[in-house]
Amino acid sequence: MKTALITGANRGIGLELARQLTDRGYNVIAACRKSSPELNALGIRVEEAVDVTNAASLRDLADRLSGVRLDLLVNNAGVLRRSAFDRLEEDLDDYRLQFEVNSLGPLRVTRALLNHLNDGARVIIITSRMGSMDDNTSGGHYGYRMSKVAVNMAGISLAHELKDRNIPVGLLHPGYVRTEMTGNEGFVDASEAAAGLIERIDELGMDTTGSFRHANGENLPW
Ligand SMILES: NC(=O)c1ccc[n+]([C@@H]2O[C@H](COP(=O)([O-])OP(=O)(O)OC[C@H]3O[C@@H](n4cnc5c(N)ncnc54)[C@H](OP(=O)(O)O)[C@@H]3O)[C@@H](O)[C@H]2O)c1
Repeated sequence: MKTALITGANRGIGLELARQLTDRGYNVIAACRKSSPELNALGIRVEEAVDVTNAASLRDLADRLSGVRLDLLVNNAGVLRRSAFDRLEEDLDDYRLQFEVNSLGPLRVTRALLNHLNDGARVIIITSRMGSMDDNTSGGHYGYRMSKVAVNMAGISLAHELKDRNIPVGLLHPGYVRTEMTGNEGFVDASEAAAGLIERIDELGMDTTGSFRHANGENLPW
């Protein structure tokens, strides 16, 4: 049985990924800061107190996973804070938070769990097309966009880093998804997004490591 670990698995897209990967026969470890009734209802292993910005919490997670081998790591935890140019100084803490969670989080989690990854495992970063330079046709959202373009670059470097171990890295955009992050606005529900993400995860191999794709199968521009 394959084992997957997902961050931010207590709600939104992470919760749906946990549900659907479990249905697909994965042994899922749901990492989160605090569990939820919906996550508890899945009856899977939940690892709480996992804050992707906190080195000690990631070390503790790695310790608790002693003996566990991962075939899939999904770096899903993320935050969106509205940030406008005319409030730059007032919003700087929100910019920093988005960098901590969205850009450094996946890198730190992957580093902390490196020794738990099987050779040939897959590493996924749930990024956003908001982090695409070419796709930025409307501006705004400075902090979020900057944090996601930074994680895209981190993903490419990770793809090089992990090549020797045959671990492909996929940068996946889930679509515009109705979750708390978007105030439940969006084009698709988390269940549809998660289904598409899992199809893309299945397709990810060493020939496509470092690719940036939409859950619907489109290749996205940088
Ligand atoms: N929804 C969209 O339209 C959309 C579009 C593009 C990309 N994305 C990306 O998809 C991913 C999931 O988003 P979502 O829509 O499911 O958002 P969501 O419903 O707001 O869920 C965000 C998840 O991230 C967790 N999280 C936030 N800060 C964390 C931290 N410091 N440590 C650990 N976990 C943390 C949250 O945990 P708590 O409950 O503890 O806060 C929650 O589980 C994010 O990376 C997001 O940027 C979403």
